[in-house]
This record gives sequence, C-alpha cells and structure tokens, in this order.
Amino acid sequence: MNKLAKEKKKAVKYVTRKNGVFWPSPAMKKIAFMSDPRVYSKAAKDPVKFWEEQAREGLTWEKEWDIGYEEKLPYFKWFKGGKLNFCVNCLDRHLNKANKVAMVWVPEPVNEKPIEFTYGQLYDKVNRFANVLKKYGVGKGDVVSIYLPMVPEAMVAMLACTRIGAIHSIVFSAFSSEALKARIQDGKAKILITSDGYYRRGKPEPLLKKARAAARRTTIKKIIIVPRIKKKAPTGGKYLDFNKEMEKVDSYCAPEIMNSEDTMFILYTSGTTGKPKGIVHDTGGYAMQAYLTTKWNFDMHEDDLMWCTADVGWITGHTYAMYGPLLVGAKTLIYEGGPDYPNPGRWWKLIQDHKVNMFYTAPTAIRMFMKIDEKWINKYDLSSIRIMGSVGEPIDVKSWMWYFNKIGGGRCPIIDTWWQTETGGTLINVLPGIGPFVPTVSGRPFPGVTKEIVDEKGRPVKPGKPGFLIQKSPFAPGMLHGVYNNHKKFVETYWKKYKKYYDTSDGAYTTNGLIRITGRTDDVMKVAGHRLATAELENAIDADKHVGECAIVPLPHAVKGQVPVAFVVLKHGKPGPELEKRLKKFVDIKIGPTARPAKIYFVEDLPKTRSGKIMRRILKAIITKEEPKGLMTLVNPQSVGRIKQIVETQ
Ligand code: WT7
Repeated sequence: MNKLAKEKKKAVKYVTRKNGVFWPSPAMKKIAFMSDPRVYSKAAKDPVKFWEEQAREGLTWEKEWDIGYEEKLPYFKWFKGGKLNFCVNCLDRHLNKANKVAMVWVPEPVNEKPIEFTYGQLYDKVNRFANVLKKYGVGKGDVVSIYLPMVPEAMVAMLACTRIGAIHSIVFSAFSSEALKARIQDGKAKILITSDGYYRRGKPEPLLKKARAAARRTTIKKIIIVPRIKKKAPTGGKYLDFNKEMEKVDSYCAPEIMNSEDTMFILYTSGTTGKPKGIVHDTGGYAMQAYLTTKWNFDMHEDDLMWCTADVGWITGHTYAMYGPLLVGAKTLIYEGGPDYPNPGRWWKLIQDHKVNMFYTAPTAIRMFMKIDEKWINKYDLSSIRIMGSVGEPIDVKSWMWYFNKIGGGRCPIIDTWWQTETGGTLINVLPGIGPFVPTVSGRPFPGVTKEIVDEKGRPVKPGKPGFLIQKSPFAPGMLHGVYNNHKKFVETYWKKYKKYYDTSDGAYTTNGLIRITGRTDDVMKVAGHRLATAELENAIDADKHVGECAIVPLPHAVKGQVPVAFVVLKHGKPGPELEKRLKKFVDIKIGPTARPAKIYFVEDLPKTRSGKIMRRILKAIITKEEPKGLMTLVNPQSVGRIKQIVETQ
C-alpha cells in the first residue's frame, strides 16, 4: 500500500451508518462540544435564558446586560445595556496565545508562498489600521466602504472598523463600479478601502479603476489602496497607500466599548425589488450567533483550521471565513483565487497542504467538481477533514453523496446549513455530535431558535406538507436589526405578511421531524449560490436605451443551480447577437458578471394580465419546455405562441 492509501485508511471515522442514514460515530460524539439532544428541549423552555448563559460563557463583556431580550416588533434587542467590543472578542482575549496562528492566507499564484498570521501579528496590524482610520476622521458609527478581494488586509480592515466602532459595508469585488457607487451613496461612507487588484486564474484582475469611478461625486474623501499587484499603490490627492499609512501610526489603539445593540456592519443583499437593501447587524447579538454556531456546528476546537470558501463580500465570508474562527480562538484559511487554478486539484491540494479540518462550501462548487476527472481529487490526502458544510441553496441527493464519499471519504458529517444574509449566522442544521445526517435535509433549528412551517395565513401546516418557513419570537441573536435608513422596506419585506413572524421567503416541509428547504418563494434566484433579484436585473436591462421592457426568469442549470434568462422587447435597434452581447456587457457594468443573463431572447411582446403584470410564470414554462398554463388570464395570449417559436428556433 502506498503512503496516501495508508493515510486514507487510517483516517478516523466520524460517522456510522444506521438504517440507511448517517449518525455521529463514537469518535465524533467523544470530541463534540454538543452531543446531547436534550439541548434542544432545554433551550426551547427558555430561549432567552439559553442565549444569556451562552453569552456569559462564550463572549467577553465589558459590562453585563440589563435585559436579555427586548422586543418591540418589528425591532428587537439582545443583551440590552450590555457593553463589549467585537475586536476584543476576536483578538485581545486570545493574546495569551499570541504566537498561535489565527489566519493562513494562500495567494493564488503558486510561486508565492502562503503567509501565516499569528494572533499577535494580526492584533498589531488591526490596531495600526484602526489608528489609520481614526487619523482620517473615522469614528464610532461612521460607515466605511470596503471593496477588497480575498487578501489578509480584508480581515485587518474589518476588524479595525469593529475596534473603533465604525460600521463596515463590504461590497463583493466582482460587483461593478455602479453597484459599488450605489452602496457607497446609501451608506454615505467617507473612506473607501480597496486594492489595486487581485489574481484570478493566473492573471492580475484590476480593481482600482472600478473603485475610482465608483467614488467619483460621492461622500468618499479618501481611498486607501492595498498594493497587491504592484509593490506600491498610487498616492496623492484622495489616494493613500495601505502599507505606508500603517508605518506612520501607533501600534496600539484602545477599543471603543460599544453597546450590544449598536450597529456593527451593514451588508447589501437583493430582495424582490430593484434596489439592494442594506441589512443591519448589531454587535452583541451577531457576535453571539457567529461564536456559538461556529463552535457547535463545525465543532471547532482551538487547534482546528477552518476553510470556508465564501468570498468576504457575502455574509458567509463575513461570519465563517473571517469572524467565527477567531471568535472561538481557532484558525481560518483564506484563499485568494479561483478553484481550478493552475489545475482542478488546487482546492484539494490546499486541504492536504494545510490540513484543513472544517471545510465549508456551496452546492454549486460541488457540482462543478463532480464534472472533473476524479484523479484531481484522489491524488490528495483529505483525511484531515472532520466536518463538512454546505450552504447557499438546496443540495440534491447525488451531490450530497458525492461530497460525502469523494471529499469526506465517507467518514465526515455533512451539515447542510440554512440561513440568510439577514440572519447573520446559521439557523437550521444538524449538529455534528447529534445527527442524523440525511441527504437534502437541513435539520433542526439551532438550539434556542424557533422555526415553523406555516400556510399563507400563518397557520402551522401538518408534518410533511409544504409551506412557508417563518421564524418565531424570540428572534435569534444574529438576526437583522433593520434595513439601513429604510424602515418601510424592513417592514414590507419581512413583517408584512405575518406581522408577528419573520418571513424568510423560503419554502420548506418536515420529514421525520427534520426540516427540508425547497427554495425561495419570491422573485429571488440563486445563481451559483449568489442571490439575485429578478427585478434588479430587469431594472439594469431596462436602463439600456434600446430596451422597451424586459422580463427575467430563472432557468435550471446543472452547475450553477439557476441562471437568468432575459426576454426583451426592443424600442430601437435590431435584434441579434450584436445587441445580445451589448446588453450582457451592460449588465456587467450595472451589476457585475455574476448577474449576466445566460441567454437573451428578443420578442415582440411579453405575456401580460389585464392589469399589466408580466406573467413570468408562463415564460418560465416555455424555457423549461413545460406546457404554459393560465393563458386565459392574458390580454395577449397570442404572444405565447410567438415566444415559443423564438425559443425553439434559437
Ligand atoms: C437564501 C439566502 C447565508 C448563506 C448564504 C446565502 C438559500 C441558504 C440554504 C440551504 C437551501 C439555502 C435560501 C435563503 N439557502 N442556505 N442550506 N439549503 N437553501 O445567503 O445570499 O442571503 O441567501 O439562500 O433560499 O433564503 P443569501
């Protein structure tokens, strides 16, 4: 037997099979922080008490709260009157092990060496950068825009904001300049932190041009640039070099002591309307949710290394790539680049080289790797993995089994974590020490969280019957505290339908007492795990001068889950590949390539009801080759036949 085969054979089994489902093995139970199923009923008896106990034990507070939970719907507060600093919880309290690694950064170019940052080193950098921010007038409650790729400075910048009580607003680096500008304007940030670029699939990808254009004619006074491609960043006028600024300041910055309910960050996400919403997260509640879900879901111990593949521009990147592992005092791995560079073995080599223990990714990535030659996986030793996670969209049985067997070697629990940008941390999944691990089944609400599946009127549905997933009071500590500067939108989106329940907009049903998620019930699609509102994309396309009107529908896709398809009625111009290309480019400019339609059909008319509503349902039936129903309600039923013809001939 060769060495690799031996290693694989030796690897500990963390699951056992019983009655066709997987359960934690004795080895898993033995190490798990939480293996007693009674935790659910105990927490359910008094959820506030449960969270209070956890907060006392797990977080470092400057002053304990006066009131555990207070609710004046649609708003609620956790740990009211409590005082803490988030950065202290991530760094200062771990300084007794200052030489322990906190973060491993892996650059994409293979000739560049990975860099390890100890808690002590990170502490020094964060303190310095906090002082840089202060020097340029940033203080408590100010919004700072961050437009950074997966570089260590992203972690430094985020933590520095939390150290001084500034509110970070991170924008995904693949989003367009216009998308960034809209988010800067909404938050009225004075400082923008960006980089000259990053490496993607072997090439430098510029970022600065987009950042500059976005900052023009906004509130931005200074742009702090991380030199990633070049040795130095351009300086002068608005521009500052991240590294140079770091040298000029003091190495200690006193943490700003915050109220638990003070806003810590905002993150924009798509809803059913055309404009992204700034989701507001607080300090103490978010810290609690991030801390405990990282610790219990991933069963993360101090010496463990977690790799969450999500970009920092998304909530998963915030909570599990950046903050969660530090809150529990363990290690996180941050990878800059593409999954298949320089070859499809990159991710798996990375797990082998760094001995990753917790691996967290999205079904879309799993489906992509299912298509490649298995040799790219088999050649690596993945026996360091203990827990695997899936997030972002429903996972099908085939992908689940593939993930379980090929990546987990049939040894590791998979936790299928359901949550949203709005919830800050996971809310539904199985705990690795408790189980069971059932393909496509997300599991149970986290201890202390009450979920229910209800009908249109908010009445619970019978077990096994499909319905709408809602959240009941008390709302989980990590949940949102509003939409930034938009109370109306907050109420309309989450509280209008059920008043006393938080509306998740997801469909679900129970099976053997566990929750299975069926997907969004609104006009939000998940494209390669990225959340996209059809209205947002329609707005972008409508803005082109050639376009009269347009409708977007999701088309099922083997790797990405869903892709947007556009139906466009032209005002000017000639339909054809030229214009299709132009409109796709236009979407890149307005939102970013993640939103680019897979196909654009130019049609004469869109199916509409008497009140003028576009019937996307009918368009969806046409592209999925189903028989469109409900043509009777249309004012222009003849449009359907013509569209069918166009779709069939292209
Ligand atoms: C939507 C939220 C916060 C995680 C990253 C996505 C879908 C998320 C699952 C899952 C089925 C899932 C839901 C949800 N979703 N996790 N495990 N199984 N669906 O955050 O971009 O805010 O999207 O993602 O539809 O509403 P997001």
